[in-house]
Amino acid sequence: MSRVCAVFGGSRGIGAAISKAFAREGENVVILAKNVDRIEATLESLNKIDGGGTHTGLICNISSETDVKTRLSQVYDKYGRIDILVNSAGITKDSLLLRTSKLEVSDLLELNLIGPMITSRVVLKEMIRQQDGCIINIGSIVGLKGNIGQSSYGASKAGLLGFTRCLAKEVASRNIRVNLIAPGFIKTDMTGGSQFLHMENHIPMGRFGDPTEVANAAVFLANSPYITGQMITVDGGLQLAI
Ligand SMILES: NC(=O)c1ccc[n+]([C@@H]2O[C@H](COP(=O)([O-])OP(=O)(O)OC[C@H]3O[C@@H](n4cnc5c(N)ncnc54)[C@H](OP(=O)(O)O)[C@@H]3O)[C@@H](O)[C@H]2O)c1
Repeated sequence: MSRVCAVFGGSRGIGAAISKAFAREGENVVILAKNVDRIEATLESLNKIDGGGTHTGLICNISSETDVKTRLSQVYDKYGRIDILVNSAGITKDSLLLRTSKLEVSDLLELNLIGPMITSRVVLKEMIRQQDGCIINIGSIVGLKGNIGQSSYGASKAGLLGFTRCLAKEVASRNIRVNLIAPGFIKTDMTGGSQFLHMENHIPMGRFGDPTEVANAAVFLANSPYITGQMITVDGGLQLAI
């Protein structure tokens, strides 16, 4: 039977690649993001994939608990269950800590860290009833190794790893698995700026990753019923180099 995957941030970049990979696996995919045009464009490509799933796009701001609850209840109304939750929605807002206001810090944490905690909390009730579920968080190598100008972002991603491990312990006995993928530098809108160009020289494999290479790890985790509380880095060896 096809599973139901809810992918926050599924309209672009890594989330879009994960959505397409699950659609190819024959799953039903629900994309949740903010920009309607991008949601529709990705939904169109999902519908062209001959996997047999039924796909949906929903506008949802992950920073708003009300929005998250409303949209996920629409998913339950339509499909009756969510088997896989992917938290890929995220932003960077680079600035040195001395130039960063408290509001900027809290806005970023609200989206990158508290957002995934809220989406997880909403799906957990049903996953516990199902006695089955898989949550995949998208962290970052910046949360492990640090980066100048990314203290809020790095804090959010390090927090996401701590959250992943705590929640994995909390819900393992209910057959719910929680894992994290920590990408290095992946070719998406997020890394399109000129400040990232020189990073290629630091990556042992000598190139940025493709979003599909992160998506492969997500499919692996979704299909690995005895793996929980783990982090997989997808970084071309960058972790070894910095
Ligand atoms: N690219 C990299 O090198 C890299 C490396 C490490 C980690 N990551 C992480 O991987 C994840 C995906 O990154 P990406 O490179 O694919 O970024 P991206 O191309 O900029 O895509 C970001 C996605 O998040 C969605 N999003 C942003 N704000 C949102 C909000 N408030 N509510 C709901 N959705 C929202 C966007 O939707 P809209 O278009 O509607 O805004 C879009 O679908 C992020 O968590 C990022 O931190 C990326």
